[in-house]
Amino acid sequence: TTPLRVALLGCGVVGSQVARMILSRADDVAARVGRPVELAGIAVAHPDRPRARLPQDLFTADAEALVARDDVDIVVEVIGGIEPAYPLIMSAIEHGSSVVTANKALLAAHGHEIYAAADVHGVDVYYEAAVAGAIPIVRPLRESLVGDEIRRVMGIVNGTTNYILDKMTSEGVDFETALAEAQRLGYAESDPTADVEGYDAAAKAAILASLAFHTRIRGSQVHREGITGITPEDIEAARGMGCVIKLLAICEMEPEGVSARVHPALVPEDHPLGGIRGANNAIFVEAREAGHLMFMGPGAGGSPTASAVMGDLVTVARNRARGVAGPAQAIFGDVPVAEMGTV
Ligand code: HSE
Repeated sequence: TTPLRVALLGCGVVGSQVARMILSRADDVAARVGRPVELAGIAVAHPDRPRARLPQDLFTADAEALVARDDVDIVVEVIGGIEPAYPLIMSAIEHGSSVVTANKALLAAHGHEIYAAADVHGVDVYYEAAVAGAIPIVRPLRESLVGDEIRRVMGIVNGTTNYILDKMTSEGVDFETALAEAQRLGYAESDPTADVEGYDAAAKAAILASLAFHTRIRGSQVHREGITGITPEDIEAARGMGCVIKLLAICEMEPEGVSARVHPALVPEDHPLGGIRGANNAIFVEAREAGHLMFMGPGAGGSPTASAVMGDLVTVARNRARGVAGPAQAIFGDVPVAEMGTV
């Protein structure tokens, strides 16, 4: 049978792990899909750089040409950021490829244009890895819970800030000390702004709110406050009230529309979100019929994120093998977004 061919855009921590899994798990993937799934090429900035256990002839610097190739069926984007990921994904969709992406910043900014283009071209866009790494939360909101009525989604969706706050809580250190340790362990970037100021969490909140409430909300519409102002005294005061401080993304339906916000919050120690330690993520969903659901696990890192990307890859490959597409993205209706302002 003809293989399904995958173009991989990006080969960093996540991309290299995805490439290795496509090669090493080829038999299992073929069995799950019903057709072989092969790598057509890997687009990177420096194709001549040696990469362990990956064939050198797969690498190219010409991402535009790779996504335009007739023999490519699925494009997996793990470059991150808006440029050049956005035009490459739009080109992939226009060339009839299905797309798997882990790119929260892009989806929070331009997801709705991407979803609309995918619907027009009858292809899939799957993005489980964009929110909370390995934790299945996109598909539960998009598929499993779509017949229910979600009331609130509340989550710890940034591992770096949870690590910092947890360290401040358990060891009494100040923010700078905990941040330095997070950087030493490789959780925080050398420029930690996106994590500690809440931009990363706000992008994820926009994606979660759009899915949960069938609306169009962008990252820039999410009210956002980071954790740089949290002091050991704040943590002690919280403890005195039986609480811990967590950076929460809170998405809920209010009378004036959908609201999404990211800010430090007092969480009772005995709430399921109060016990999330280290760099883990967790999302607490309140639905009318399902009740309370808790999703928790590793929210970042090469292997956990690659697991989520592979799950999406197998799913879109299955759909293509059967000549169908997954759920349409046009489920996003016109539920109003409340005026939240930004901090
Ligand atoms: N910087 C993110 C975090 C990782 O700390 O959770 C992936 O979004």
